[in-house]
Amino acid sequence: MPFIKRVDPFKLPIASRNALIAPFQVMEMMKTASQWQMAGEDVIHMSIGEPDFTAPPSVQQALLQAVAEGKTAYTPALGIPSLREAIAQFYQDRFNIWVDPARIVITAGASGAMLLGLATLVGQGDEVLLPDPSYPCNRHFIAVVGATAKLLACGPEQRFQLTATQLTSHWSEKTRGVLIASPSNPTGTTIAWPELQAIQEEVIKRNGFLMVDEIYQGLRYEQTLGNTPKSALSLEQADQNVIVLNSFSKYFNMTGWRLGWMVLPSVMLPNIEKLAQNLFICPSALAQQAALACFRTDSLAIYETRRLQFEQRRNYLLPALASLGFKIPVAPDGAFYIYADTSALAPSSETLANRLLDNAKVCIVPGKDFGFAAPEQYVRFSYATSLARLEEAVERMRRVL
Ligand SMILES: Cc1ncc(COP(=O)(O)O)c(C=O)c1O
Repeated sequence: MPFIKRVDPFKLPIASRNALIAPFQVMEMMKTASQWQMAGEDVIHMSIGEPDFTAPPSVQQALLQAVAEGKTAYTPALGIPSLREAIAQFYQDRFNIWVDPARIVITAGASGAMLLGLATLVGQGDEVLLPDPSYPCNRHFIAVVGATAKLLACGPEQRFQLTATQLTSHWSEKTRGVLIASPSNPTGTTIAWPELQAIQEEVIKRNGFLMVDEIYQGLRYEQTLGNTPKSALSLEQADQNVIVLNSFSKYFNMTGWRLGWMVLPSVMLPNIEKLAQNLFICPSALAQQAALACFRTDSLAIYETRRLQFEQRRNYLLPALASLGFKIPVAPDGAFYIYADTSALAPSSETLANRLLDNAKVCIVPGKDFGFAAPEQYVRFSYATSLARLEEAVERMRRVL
């Protein structure tokens, strides 16, 4: 046996990229909340971005049937053809757009789609432009594939969304594309259609990509006011450079099933397929079989009733929070979040969030999870909890504030 000199103390080599990944602040709040819960306190969660509904009965049934029929083997890496076709039909029915099912790839949630998409498009030395605030994992996915997330401050005057003017002034020779979410997490605001069109025009001039996370696309409100939701897939030349991400997690109430999809320019397909085979083999076979039932008429009717419940909660909370002293500079028109300005209530949103957790037992997320532009001024409320609980939360906060 050759002699191996023991290094003392032993230190496992940890890749330097880990230093670029920040922990999820919401998880820290959750830890404190669960300590309160263990001490017997009733904590109202307005923190986590997870619907309080589960999959409808038809989807549950489809899962059980798939198990009974043994449909549990690996599937094609890009997903089962019937689900890719069902999603294409969904785009046809909802948005009146035709998408070739061959361009639809089934993934392990929007997260799996994000990883595959970014790993295909960017690497060492590349930059991606993102709005600040945005969903924290986005910038971490970019870091994991070796590229740099360039966060651009987006205030309420621009609906917390990126503008074409910002894009043109920050695009450098290293920039490869743009990543936005509409409706956004944490703000619940959608990007104005003309702005998205202008962004697309600028991106295409620069040979870049436009990745649009539409995970909350199904949860759009004020639709009766002529505010018909549009998908970025309706943009001109979308099939050239637009990548749309979506998921069964939010509108379809299937967070833990880990299933999502993306729509790609065909040119990306061979690379995405290679990566998907190597990194994931395939998305969950059972979840895919069950997800087919999401598009049945009875399931869609349930999803629409739930969307209206979310809207009802939003309509209750907006004036209720304002009456507590929160300022809501842009009324959200989607997702299940309200990004509220706390400056009239406390010097720091983190102090306020901790105070509300400790004294009102209401758990919300301070802005620092979502970026670096004025995070101390904002908190995110999630209304993915029942109206009765939201009413109780407001009363408790009123007593503390
Ligand atoms: C904007 C956004 N994108 C992506 C995700 C990840 O979703 P999935 O469960 O589909 O991986 C989330 C989850 O909260 C999100 O808010």
